[in-house]
Amino acid sequence: MIYMKRFFLFLLLFCSFIGLKRDLFSQYPQSNVEIHPPFLYEPKDFSYLLGHLEGISDDLLKMHFALYKGYVKNTNLLVFALREFEDKGDELTLAYGALKRRFSWEYDGMILHEYYFENLKSTPFLTRKDALYKQIVKDFGSFEKWKEAFFATAMIRGIGWVILYQSPKEGRLKNIWVDEHHMNHLAGEVPLLVLDVWEHAYMTEYGLNRKAYLEAFFKNINWKVVSKRFKID
Ligand SMILES: [Fe+2]
Repeated sequence: MIYMKRFFLFLLLFCSFIGLKRDLFSQYPQSNVEIHPPFLYEPKDFSYLLGHLEGISDDLLKMHFALYKGYVKNTNLLVFALREFEDKGDELTLAYGALKRRFSWEYDGMILHEYYFENLKSTPFLTRKDALYKQIVKDFGSFEKWKEAFFATAMIRGIGWVILYQSPKEGRLKNIWVDEHHMNHLAGEVPLLVLDVWEHAYMTEYGLNRKAYLEAFFKNINWKVVSKRFKID
């Protein structure tokens, strides 16, 4: 009887393994194209945020992680699909052009979510001596004025992102609205603080009250990460 039990357990594990493998392979086109990291992307693990955010529940986070993984998967699918076209010399086709255009949407969706999750998990607030704090005051008049301007940008109707950018060229900061994932980015500028204002980021908890979500986001900012992104000449 014990052998039968072990046999069924083995069978179950074997079938799960085969199912998992099939699932992984089915994500990508069946082809001879071989692509490996860094040209393929692995989803990052942000589960360390669970239980550590104020006003953003674990259920919402888990749903958001799943969405993020979708962007990673689709970015990889595009990497494969584009390579197949290129290997066949089919770059001048309409289909290739359409997929090429799609790439920045999926890729930016992936990268912006990584910036967003990474700049969560509250750390002590900036001090007046911090270089980033001084730069904010210099560019916006005061920290409160910057926060107001950041929130005002985040209240723009639509789906997208708000990014506090550092311009290495101009030596100053800007609050920028990004439409969807890929429109309005500033060439050559560095994202310091990234806020997701797609509806999925807050609607299950706050409904139409985006302002309440912004306040919750603000309480959870990881200023240590944001400061690290800020580069001083
Ligand atoms: Fe999102």
